[in-house]
Amino acid sequence: MSESHTQKLAVLFVCLGNICRSPLAEGALRAVAAKSGLDCTVDSAGTADYHVGDAPDPRAIATARADGVDISGLQGRQLDLQDFYRFTHIFALDKANLEGIRARAPRDATAQVALLMDAIEGKKGGSVKDPYYGDDDDFRAVWEEILIAISAMTDRFEEAGIDARF
Ligand code: 4NP
Repeated sequence: MSESHTQKLAVLFVCLGNICRSPLAEGALRAVAAKSGLDCTVDSAGTADYHVGDAPDPRAIATARADGVDISGLQGRQLDLQDFYRFTHIFALDKANLEGIRARAPRDATAQVALLMDAIEGKKGGSVKDPYYGDDDDFRAVWEEILIAISAMTDRFEEAGIDARF
């Protein structure tokens, strides 16, 4: 059996500040995995260090809470080198952060790096818009988009496990 079959599925979501989009994606996948029984490590991080140690943005917390998902206990952290080996999949929330992740990736990184929107047929290459300077409706729109992507992603993981390619 190859190493890829013995390693457990581990998914990291990465945005800029790790207080709006990536904690929402983390919360969404945790909730779906808990419901479906998908065995999966889930975390999130930012390419920037602006919000290390901070709780998610109150608007992100409220948006997820409205759908019964609690992300209030999460804490911001910055992407680090070990993430490229600890996680099987790293999903960027937008193209700018995808470039930021790729720029930091060590040559022998084992994680597959992709965009969250690559999980949705027809939305490949797309970005989840930064809602930080937006309003509650922007957070709601981001959450809806993330939920669709996480649902599609979970289907792929259930079919192909850690070998799923995006
Ligand atoms: P996120 O949103 O990348 O979705 O967490 C942002 C959060 C904070 C900042 C920018 C985007 N900021 O400039 O502090």
